[in-house]
Amino acid sequence: MNHLREMQPEDIRPVFEVIESQDEDDAEEALACYQEIGGIMDNFVMEANGRIIGVTGYAMPPACDDTYWLEWTYVHDDYANQGNGRIMLNELIQHLKDKNGRMLFVKVSDYVDEEDGAIYAAALHLYKSLGFKEQIIHKDYYDEDEAQTILSLRLRESSSLANDVPMQDCPVQFNAIFEIADTDGAYSFGWHEEGDAVFTNKDVSIGIQQARKDEARAIFLSFPQNYSKVSETLIASGFKHSGTLYDYFEDGVHEDHFTYVL
Ligand SMILES: CC(C)(COP(=O)(O)OP(=O)(O)OC[C@H]1O[C@@H](n2cnc3c(N)ncnc32)[C@H](O)[C@@H]1OP(=O)(O)O)[C@@H](O)C(=O)NCCC(=O)NCCS
Repeated sequence: MNHLREMQPEDIRPVFEVIESQDEDDAEEALACYQEIGGIMDNFVMEANGRIIGVTGYAMPPACDDTYWLEWTYVHDDYANQGNGRIMLNELIQHLKDKNGRMLFVKVSDYVDEEDGAIYAAALHLYKSLGFKEQIIHKDYYDEDEAQTILSLRLRESSSLANDVPMQDCPVQFNAIFEIADTDGAYSFGWHEEGDAVFTNKDVSIGIQQARKDEARAIFLSFPQNYSKVSETLIASGFKHSGTLYDYFEDGVHEDHFTYVL
């Protein structure tokens, strides 16, 4: 990589300042992530005249085949809109292609700040111009009137085996209910593969009741599309299918998203 180098522990403070120049809350959240064990792994910084001016990185979700999520990506406000973000992302994308990466996903909010306007609009424009395609828009996700758009970029050609993915009788049980990080009132259920069947309508309604008690606004769930009975049970319980992340787990194995508005 010509312009990027791996982030080091001593970069955390200047990187915080880069993010803070764009958004103070994001800077605090990013700092908390960087300070976790392994928190700066797979993050990269960009320098100009000895000063860190940009940061980007990726994470690999579990149970997926060469799938990546783009993580904290910021250019210092003093250096934004000068082509630095494009250089940074092109290098990161090339790095993932060199690692034989398959799919890169990114989430973008449509938050409109009273003073600064649509602060993620440049990011959305940049991602689309780099070839990312919109896959799902979750309305009212981060907050009321703040949507989440998920985009994806294919990094290598699709496998020819992708067309014939059989349904699987995986047992799925819920094991938690929680507010999704970075959201105000968006909830989800934790789940694991256990037992001998898929959760029932009754299990779903217990979760919905608990979310209602916690004053959740909405519940967002996602499952592999090839898990039998999951989709029909959720739909029968009042969830709506809200979109699909194609080829998320591997080529041909998609992730279905479901939403229940409370
Ligand atoms: C996204 C970000 C990293 C891009 O870095 P950058 O150095 O400004 O990027 P570049 O200068 O290479 O490109 C910016 C592009 O956005 C366009 N742009 C700028 N403001 C825009 C706006 N309000 N609406 C739409 N497009 C906009 C520019 O015209 C440019 O596009 P072009 O190359 O086609 O002309 C930087 O803007 C940033 O830190 N934003 C805030 C944080 C953020 O949104 N991070 C991503 C979260 S998912």
